Amino acid sequence: MQIIGADFVVLCDAEFRVLKRGGVCFESDEIIAIDSYTSLCQQYPDIPSQYYESCAITPALANLHLHLEFSQNEGILHFGDFGKWLDSVIVNRETLMQEKLMGVNLKTAMQQGITECLRSGVGFVGAVSSYGYDLEVLADSPLRVLYFNEVIGSKIEVLDILFQNFLARLQDSKSVQNERFIPAVAIHSPYSVHSKLLEKTLQVAQKENLPLSVHFLESQAEKEWLETSSGYFQKFYQKFFGSNPKSFYDVQGFLEFFKDTKNIYFVHCLEADSQILREITTMKGKIITCPKSNRLLNSKLLNLNALQECGIPFCLGTDGKSSNNSLSLLDELKIALFAYSDMPLEYLARELLLSVTRNAFLNTDWKLGELKVGNFADFAVFKIPKTEEFLAQNLILYVREAFALYIKGMEVLENLQERE
Ligand code: BEZ
Ligand code: FE2
Repeated sequence: MQIIGADFVVLCDAEFRVLKRGGVCFESDEIIAIDSYTSLCQQYPDIPSQYYESCAITPALANLHLHLEFSQNEGILHFGDFGKWLDSVIVNRETLMQEKLMGVNLKTAMQQGITECLRSGVGFVGAVSSYGYDLEVLADSPLRVLYFNEVIGSKIEVLDILFQNFLARLQDSKSVQNERFIPAVAIHSPYSVHSKLLEKTLQVAQKENLPLSVHFLESQAEKEWLETSSGYFQKFYQKFFGSNPKSFYDVQGFLEFFKDTKNIYFVHCLEADSQILREITTMKGKIITCPKSNRLLNSKLLNLNALQECGIPFCLGTDGKSSNNSLSLLDELKIALFAYSDMPLEYLARELLLSVTRNAFLNTDWKLGELKVGNFADFAVFKIPKTEEFLAQNLILYVREAFALYIKGMEVLENLQERE
């Protein structure tokens, strides 16, 4: 058992309560008590204790959407237009997966990505894996990982091969499963996954109760394709697959497939209207937004006011370096704080902090995201200015790196520095 304390203990509960000069007493598996630091030290006088001066303790942050395998992209993929970006992904995806690209090694690039996550106070990632190349580095890292084995494919002739390949990757991820590493499933998107492949994959996910992630309504091009089977994707299919298919689904039809799936993460939803947003809430789905990626590919932000009107909490993710310049969740929080300029500053800052803590684990079995007795001992410690009134905005504006990070009761940043 041990105690840590700080000027501010930010519980990240629904009321955003903060304990001044608070403390947390914990062992590796759970939080035992939360109180003022002094009373905890009096109550448990014989255990190690550490007070972090001028700091805030929060739950370790969660980045629920990234693609670690694309960590070698710097300046290769086309930003500024969704269609041009997707074209560039198709042309360059094999190049980007090369073991060595322009002197950088894929494994090293992925390890740097993991370090960037940890340094930004992230203890939990939702990692979408297209090939399985990231399995080992993630399983060997201190992170908690929700490992989304992705399916993608529209060509009927190769669906069986693709499905078998998915099953093999799923199996590989199950072989390293433990309490910190959880196998899961990702459906790439409605425009890229054949309905037969979707059906078979969902059967597996539902039977095994696996969490599910899907890119959904990210671009106008996607919406147009689902609604009218025309526009950018018509030309895309002609150009890259020499085919002339119709969309496999309309918007409603696609959502229908997920009615019986628990624990589902819809990523982006930039083009979702309020009816669709409500349906996602009814399904207890989560919406993950990645503002920097959305800026770079679609020049648009998710309408948080619309989500709020529907009573939907949002989660914040970075997406991969395929559509971002960094995997730092602190960078993402900063950009979001500046970008949503119509929302009151401190209010927005609190909502953003909740989006990477509490909201990420609502309606799940994981005891994470909120500091409370019985939850896992995962904390981030940030050095921040003293003014309590602006605590949330200060935390986002002035912090560039976590000061300490505990996962499963163990500080992990110290070891990270030693290793490098
Ligand atoms: C495919 O692999 O079939 C695919 C990939 C991206 C977009 C559409 C289809
Ligand atoms: Fe993504």
